[in-house]
Amino acid sequence: MNGKVQVSGAKNAVLPILAACLLTSDKVVLEEAPDLLDVQVMIQVLESLGGKVKRNGKKLQVTVKEIESIETPYDLITKMRASVVIMGPMLARKGRVRISQPGGCAIGSRPINWHLKGLEYLGAQVRMDHGFLDIVAPRLTGARIYLDFPSVGATENIMMAAACAQGTTVIENAAQEPEIVDLANFINEMGGKIRGAGTNIINIEGVKEFHGTTHTVIPDRIEAGTFVLMAAACGGEVLVRNVITAHLKPLLAKLDEAGVIYKEEDEGIRVMGKGCYNAVDIKTQVHPGFPTDLQAPILAMLTLAKGTAVVTETVFENRFMHVDELKRMGADIKIEGRSAIVQGVESLHAATVAATDLRAGAALVLAALTANGTSEIREIHHIERGYENLDLKLRGLGAEIYKVD
Ligand code: UD1
Repeated sequence: MNGKVQVSGAKNAVLPILAACLLTSDKVVLEEAPDLLDVQVMIQVLESLGGKVKRNGKKLQVTVKEIESIETPYDLITKMRASVVIMGPMLARKGRVRISQPGGCAIGSRPINWHLKGLEYLGAQVRMDHGFLDIVAPRLTGARIYLDFPSVGATENIMMAAACAQGTTVIENAAQEPEIVDLANFINEMGGKIRGAGTNIINIEGVKEFHGTTHTVIPDRIEAGTFVLMAAACGGEVLVRNVITAHLKPLLAKLDEAGVIYKEEDEGIRVMGKGCYNAVDIKTQVHPGFPTDLQAPILAMLTLAKGTAVVTETVFENRFMHVDELKRMGADIKIEGRSAIVQGVESLHAATVAATDLRAGAALVLAALTANGTSEIREIHHIERGYENLDLKLRGLGAEIYKVD
């Protein structure tokens, strides 16, 4: 692969930020908002609640003058679990929200108990009603909340509810992901008072009202990491642009260990790929540890490494669905409990494979790019949930990849 590729705005930042637009009746403008399936679902969620959203290229204009409904259609919540982040802002603005209880998904059972516990600490009452969660909070009051685990979604929901609670909320053992910082910055730009986002203790002083703002969404560190890994695995010189390098440190540290050559430049990260590297062990962790969302793509690269790599998943319970598909392309991988033992092979061969979730799909694209022959990847709607124009961007780097209806 050769050339330059531009990373889009972060999916995991824009989704909660869209939900936070529910906090104000003023117009909000979001720059660098990627046009992804998941973003389209979140827009439909906002519209179902009374919001008006207009897209103009990478810019979204969002206005939620009045909340017209307190219930989101079942189909939307089941289509995208991340839409549960509307709970916090809906309670803040309207004092009540009804959402269908989200079920499991391909990578695990994914409960939302910590979201609910946090909202209860702030004064909400949660009731189960025929598969729906009916949450009522006539008044939200600041509280000290210790999260059993630094859940990203729970931290976001609590932050948004607490942003207009009476008094101060402290979230301990909070998630520290860059997307949490972007959400906190956005809320502060609307008039909120949040300090400490990006550390494990977040202080939120409740305010009465929020106003409109214009905000630029941070670049997608997972998309950036995926392109870096693809360039490394395929060989060639690729400049991955629109990257905040600090967000990619856990990946870059592993690439150093594997022997990947890259340069951090003002414009982004330049990868000088040579295709074959040393095997390295990976253990996914919450930020600033190695991101679970890059586990599948790096595992795909490690199938071609020299030696044996142990890839351990600690964040999700069932995130090795890509392994069976990679094996069909000639990879040598064994699963033992929460670890995948990857024995490097000389080459992969093309096959027809299916994406089981978003990042698994990206891993298969990476494998297919390196494999001998032409692969067919099915169920690409998973990939389109989180990668904007992946086919176009990869064609720009010289890959032969086409979407077929
Ligand atoms: C977010 C990201 C996702 C990323 C993940 C971990 C979005 C839209 N998605 O997901 O891409 O892979 O962070 O970095 O931002 N859990 C519970 N109870 C809860 C909440 C979570 O048991 O109430 C468990 C989950 O099942 C999972 C783990 O905690 O095993 C991490 O989940 P969490 O950090 O909440 O991830 P998400 O916010 O769902």
